[in-house]
Amino acid sequence: MISLVTGANRGIGLEVCGQLAALGHTVLLTARSLEAATAAAGRLGPTVHPLRLDVTSDDVSTVAREVAERFGRLDVLVNNAAVTYDTWQRAATADLRVVGQAAETNLYGPWRLVQALLPLLCKSAHARIVNVSSEVASLTNMGGGTPAYNASKVALNALTRMLAAELRAEKILVNAVCPGWVATDMGGPGGRPVADGAASVVWAATLPDHGPTGGFFRDGRPLPW
Ligand SMILES: NC(=O)c1ccc[n+]([C@@H]2O[C@H](COP(=O)([O-])OP(=O)(O)OC[C@H]3O[C@@H](n4cnc5c(N)ncnc54)[C@H](OP(=O)(O)O)[C@@H]3O)[C@@H](O)[C@H]2O)c1
Repeated sequence: MISLVTGANRGIGLEVCGQLAALGHTVLLTARSLEAATAAAGRLGPTVHPLRLDVTSDDVSTVAREVAERFGRLDVLVNNAAVTYDTWQRAATADLRVVGQAAETNLYGPWRLVQALLPLLCKSAHARIVNVSSEVASLTNMGGGTPAYNASKVALNALTRMLAAELRAEKILVNAVCPGWVATDMGGPGGRPVADGAASVVWAATLPDHGPTGGFFRDGRPLPW
Protein backbone atom coordinates (compact mmCIF):
# COMPACT_ATOMS: atom_id res chain seq x y z
CA MET A 1 0.00 0.00 0.00
CA ILE A 2 1.21 3.53 -0.82
CA SER A 3 0.11 6.05 1.82
CA LEU A 4 0.57 9.82 2.02
CA VAL A 5 0.24 11.74 5.29
CA THR A 6 0.22 15.54 5.58
CA GLY A 7 1.73 17.49 8.49
CA ALA A 8 3.76 14.42 9.41
CA ASN A 9 6.98 15.88 10.86
CA ARG A 10 5.55 15.84 14.41
CA GLY A 11 2.51 14.98 16.48
CA ILE A 12 -0.21 12.61 15.31
CA GLY A 13 0.89 12.70 11.65
CA LEU A 14 4.37 11.42 12.48
CA GLU A 15 2.97 8.60 14.60
CA VAL A 16 0.47 7.66 11.85
CA CYS A 17 3.43 7.30 9.47
CA GLY A 18 5.21 5.02 11.94
CA GLN A 19 2.14 2.84 12.47
CA LEU A 20 1.43 2.56 8.72
CA ALA A 21 5.08 1.69 8.03
CA ALA A 22 4.89 -1.00 10.72
CA LEU A 23 1.91 -2.47 8.85
CA GLY A 24 4.04 -2.73 5.71
CA HIS A 25 2.88 0.41 3.88
CA THR A 26 5.21 2.50 1.77
CA VAL A 27 4.72 5.88 3.44
CA LEU A 28 5.12 9.34 1.92
CA LEU A 29 5.85 11.44 4.99
CA THR A 30 5.13 15.02 4.01
CA ALA A 31 5.84 18.27 5.82
CA ARG A 32 6.06 21.91 4.85
CA SER A 33 9.80 21.78 5.54
CA LEU A 34 11.76 19.21 3.51
CA GLU A 35 14.45 19.18 6.23
CA ALA A 36 11.84 18.31 8.87
CA ALA A 37 10.31 15.62 6.62
CA THR A 38 13.74 14.12 5.89
CA ALA A 39 14.73 14.03 9.56
CA ALA A 40 11.42 12.43 10.59
CA ALA A 41 11.45 9.87 7.76
CA GLY A 42 15.06 8.96 8.60
CA ARG A 43 13.93 7.95 12.09
CA LEU A 44 11.21 5.63 10.72
CA GLY A 45 13.16 3.56 8.20
CA PRO A 46 13.68 2.90 4.49
CA THR A 47 10.01 2.45 3.54
CA VAL A 48 9.24 6.03 4.64
CA HIS A 49 9.93 8.68 1.99
CA PRO A 50 10.09 12.41 2.78
CA LEU A 51 8.40 14.99 0.56
CA ARG A 52 7.92 18.74 0.93
CA LEU A 53 4.24 19.61 1.03
CA ASP A 54 2.72 22.82 2.31
CA VAL A 55 -0.99 22.09 1.83
CA THR A 56 -1.71 25.77 1.16
CA SER A 57 0.72 25.96 -1.76
CA ASP A 58 1.53 24.78 -5.29
CA ASP A 59 3.53 21.97 -3.65
CA VAL A 60 0.28 20.01 -4.01
CA SER A 61 0.59 19.70 -7.79
CA THR A 62 4.35 19.03 -7.57
CA VAL A 63 3.69 16.19 -5.11
CA ALA A 64 0.93 14.76 -7.33
CA ARG A 65 3.36 14.67 -10.26
CA GLU A 66 6.09 13.08 -8.13
CA VAL A 67 3.80 10.37 -6.73
CA ALA A 68 2.58 9.61 -10.28
CA GLU A 69 6.14 9.24 -11.57
CA ARG A 70 7.53 7.24 -8.63
CA PHE A 71 4.56 5.05 -7.65
CA GLY A 72 1.86 5.37 -10.33
CA ARG A 73 -0.98 5.27 -7.79
CA LEU A 74 -1.97 6.22 -4.24
CA ASP A 75 -3.90 3.95 -1.86
CA VAL A 76 -4.27 6.07 1.29
CA LEU A 77 -4.46 9.84 1.77
CA VAL A 78 -4.43 11.07 5.38
CA ASN A 79 -5.33 14.77 5.59
CA ASN A 80 -3.80 15.43 9.01
CA ALA A 81 -2.18 18.89 8.82
CA ALA A 82 -4.05 21.58 10.73
CA VAL A 83 -3.53 24.91 12.47
CA THR A 84 -5.19 27.47 14.72
CA TYR A 85 -6.77 25.94 17.78
CA ASP A 86 -7.91 29.48 18.64
CA THR A 87 -8.69 29.27 22.34
CA TRP A 88 -8.19 33.07 22.53
CA GLN A 89 -11.21 33.84 20.31
CA ARG A 90 -15.01 33.84 20.53
CA ALA A 91 -17.28 33.62 17.48
CA ALA A 92 -18.97 36.89 18.43
CA THR A 93 -15.74 38.88 18.12
CA ALA A 94 -13.43 36.60 16.09
CA ASP A 95 -10.86 38.04 13.69
CA LEU A 96 -12.21 36.77 10.36
CA ARG A 97 -8.72 36.87 8.83
CA VAL A 98 -7.75 34.20 11.36
CA VAL A 99 -10.91 32.24 10.47
CA GLY A 100 -9.87 32.44 6.80
CA GLN A 101 -6.31 31.32 7.55
CA ALA A 102 -7.57 28.31 9.47
CA ALA A 103 -9.84 27.37 6.56
CA GLU A 104 -6.95 27.73 4.11
CA THR A 105 -5.02 24.92 5.84
CA ASN A 106 -7.73 22.84 7.54
CA LEU A 107 -10.39 22.85 4.79
CA TYR A 108 -8.93 23.99 1.45
CA GLY A 109 -5.72 22.04 2.13
CA PRO A 110 -7.48 18.64 2.23
CA TRP A 111 -9.81 19.71 -0.59
CA ARG A 112 -6.97 20.73 -2.92
CA LEU A 113 -5.07 17.51 -2.10
CA VAL A 114 -8.04 15.31 -2.91
CA GLN A 115 -8.53 17.13 -6.21
CA ALA A 116 -4.84 16.82 -7.14
CA LEU A 117 -4.46 13.19 -6.05
CA LEU A 118 -7.83 11.80 -7.15
CA PRO A 119 -6.53 10.40 -10.48
CA LEU A 120 -3.92 8.44 -8.49
CA LEU A 121 -6.44 7.30 -5.86
CA CYS A 122 -8.70 6.08 -8.68
CA LYS A 123 -5.84 3.80 -9.80
CA SER A 124 -5.95 2.00 -6.42
CA ALA A 125 -8.25 -0.97 -5.88
CA HIS A 126 -8.56 -0.11 -2.15
CA ALA A 127 -8.37 3.68 -1.87
CA ARG A 128 -9.09 5.39 1.46
CA ILE A 129 -9.24 9.09 2.35
CA VAL A 130 -9.05 10.00 6.03
CA ASN A 131 -9.83 13.56 7.06
CA VAL A 132 -8.51 14.17 10.56
CA SER A 133 -11.27 16.15 12.24
CA SER A 134 -12.26 16.67 15.86
CA GLU A 135 -15.26 16.03 18.07
CA VAL A 136 -15.42 19.80 18.60
CA ALA A 137 -16.87 19.87 15.06
CA SER A 138 -19.91 17.88 16.18
CA LEU A 139 -22.91 20.19 15.68
CA THR A 140 -24.93 18.06 18.09
CA ASN A 141 -22.65 18.99 21.00
CA MET A 142 -21.34 22.35 19.79
CA GLY A 143 -20.92 25.22 22.22
CA GLY A 144 -18.92 28.42 21.95
CA GLY A 145 -15.17 28.93 21.58
CA THR A 146 -12.30 28.07 19.21
CA PRO A 147 -14.42 29.49 16.33
CA ALA A 148 -11.86 29.42 13.50
CA TYR A 149 -10.86 25.85 14.27
CA ASN A 150 -14.41 24.59 14.84
CA ALA A 151 -15.81 26.16 11.66
CA SER A 152 -12.95 24.74 9.57
CA LYS A 153 -13.49 21.24 10.95
CA VAL A 154 -17.29 21.40 10.52
CA ALA A 155 -16.68 22.26 6.87
CA LEU A 156 -14.13 19.44 6.62
CA ASN A 157 -16.82 17.06 7.89
CA ALA A 158 -19.19 18.37 5.20
CA LEU A 159 -16.48 17.82 2.58
CA THR A 160 -16.08 14.27 3.90
CA ARG A 161 -19.79 13.56 3.34
CA MET A 162 -19.81 15.05 -0.16
CA LEU A 163 -16.67 13.20 -1.26
CA ALA A 164 -17.90 9.92 0.21
CA ALA A 165 -21.12 10.19 -1.80
CA GLU A 166 -19.40 11.30 -5.00
CA LEU A 167 -16.61 8.69 -4.82
CA ARG A 168 -18.76 5.73 -3.77
CA ALA A 169 -18.90 4.52 -7.38
CA GLU A 170 -15.07 4.48 -7.47
CA LYS A 171 -15.14 2.42 -4.22
CA ILE A 172 -13.03 5.06 -2.43
CA LEU A 173 -13.86 5.06 1.30
CA VAL A 174 -13.86 8.59 2.76
CA ASN A 175 -14.22 9.14 6.51
CA ALA A 176 -13.65 11.82 9.15
CA VAL A 177 -11.81 10.77 12.30
CA CYS A 178 -11.34 12.37 15.70
CA PRO A 179 -8.08 11.26 17.32
CA GLY A 180 -9.38 12.23 20.78
CA TRP A 181 -7.64 14.74 23.01
CA VAL A 182 -3.98 13.92 22.38
CA ALA A 183 -0.83 15.22 24.08
CA THR A 184 0.80 17.01 21.11
CA ASP A 185 1.90 20.60 20.53
CA MET A 186 -1.70 21.37 19.53
CA GLY A 187 -3.41 19.32 22.25
CA GLY A 188 -1.06 20.36 25.04
CA PRO A 189 -0.19 18.32 28.12
CA GLY A 190 -2.74 16.01 29.72
CA GLY A 191 -4.17 14.39 26.60
CA ARG A 192 -3.90 10.70 25.79
CA PRO A 193 -0.77 9.20 24.24
CA VAL A 194 -0.01 10.10 20.62
CA ALA A 195 0.00 6.39 19.73
CA ASP A 196 -3.69 6.12 20.75
CA GLY A 197 -4.71 9.18 18.72
CA ALA A 198 -2.81 7.89 15.70
CA ALA A 199 -4.38 4.43 16.02
CA SER A 200 -7.82 6.06 15.67
CA VAL A 201 -6.67 7.49 12.32
CA VAL A 202 -4.91 4.31 11.15
CA TRP A 203 -8.15 2.37 11.73
CA ALA A 204 -9.85 4.44 9.01
CA ALA A 205 -6.78 4.30 6.74
CA THR A 206 -6.78 0.49 6.76
CA LEU A 207 -10.51 -0.30 6.52
CA PRO A 208 -11.48 -3.45 4.64
CA ASP A 209 -13.26 -3.05 1.29
CA HIS A 210 -16.67 -3.52 2.94
CA GLY A 211 -15.84 -0.86 5.57
CA PRO A 212 -17.90 2.29 6.14
CA THR A 213 -17.74 5.48 4.09
CA GLY A 214 -19.06 8.97 4.85
CA GLY A 215 -18.79 8.45 8.62
CA PHE A 216 -17.32 10.28 11.62
CA PHE A 217 -15.40 8.04 14.04
CA ARG A 218 -13.15 7.93 17.05
CA ASP A 219 -11.43 4.66 17.95
CA GLY A 220 -13.54 2.90 15.34
CA ARG A 221 -16.83 3.98 16.94
CA PRO A 222 -19.27 6.46 15.32
CA LEU A 223 -19.50 10.04 16.65
CA PRO A 224 -22.61 12.21 16.28
CA TRP A 225 -22.41 14.78 13.46
N1 LIG B 1 -4.03 17.03 19.57
C1 LIG B 1 -5.33 16.94 19.79
O1 LIG B 1 -5.79 16.89 20.96
C2 LIG B 1 -6.29 16.88 18.63
C3 LIG B 1 -7.67 16.72 18.92
C4 LIG B 1 -8.56 16.63 17.86
C5 LIG B 1 -8.09 16.71 16.55
N2 LIG B 1 -6.76 16.90 16.30
C6 LIG B 1 -6.33 16.97 14.90
O2 LIG B 1 -5.27 16.05 14.69
C7 LIG B 1 -4.44 16.53 13.61
C8 LIG B 1 -2.99 16.53 14.05
O3 LIG B 1 -2.89 17.38 15.19
P1 LIG B 1 -1.63 17.40 16.17
O4 LIG B 1 -2.16 17.46 17.54
O5 LIG B 1 -0.65 16.36 15.76
O6 LIG B 1 -1.06 18.87 15.80
P2 LIG B 1 0.41 19.49 15.84
O7 LIG B 1 1.26 18.74 16.79
O8 LIG B 1 0.21 20.96 16.03
O9 LIG B 1 0.95 19.21 14.36
C9 LIG B 1 0.35 19.85 13.27
C10 LIG B 1 1.11 19.45 12.02
O10 LIG B 1 0.48 20.13 10.91
C11 LIG B 1 1.52 20.72 10.14
N3 LIG B 1 1.05 21.83 9.33
C12 LIG B 1 0.51 23.01 9.72
N4 LIG B 1 0.23 23.78 8.64
C13 LIG B 1 0.62 23.08 7.55
C14 LIG B 1 0.60 23.32 6.16
N5 LIG B 1 0.15 24.47 5.64
N6 LIG B 1 1.06 22.36 5.33
C15 LIG B 1 1.53 21.17 5.82
N7 LIG B 1 1.60 20.89 7.13
C16 LIG B 1 1.14 21.84 7.99
C17 LIG B 1 2.56 21.13 11.18
O11 LIG B 1 3.79 21.41 10.53
P3 LIG B 1 4.92 22.44 11.13
O12 LIG B 1 5.77 21.63 12.07
O13 LIG B 1 5.64 22.91 9.92
O14 LIG B 1 4.17 23.54 11.84
C18 LIG B 1 2.58 19.88 12.03
O15 LIG B 1 3.35 18.88 11.42
C19 LIG B 1 -4.99 17.91 13.24
O16 LIG B 1 -5.85 17.79 12.13
C20 LIG B 1 -5.76 18.31 14.48
O17 LIG B 1 -6.77 19.24 14.18
C21 LIG B 1 -5.85 16.98 17.30
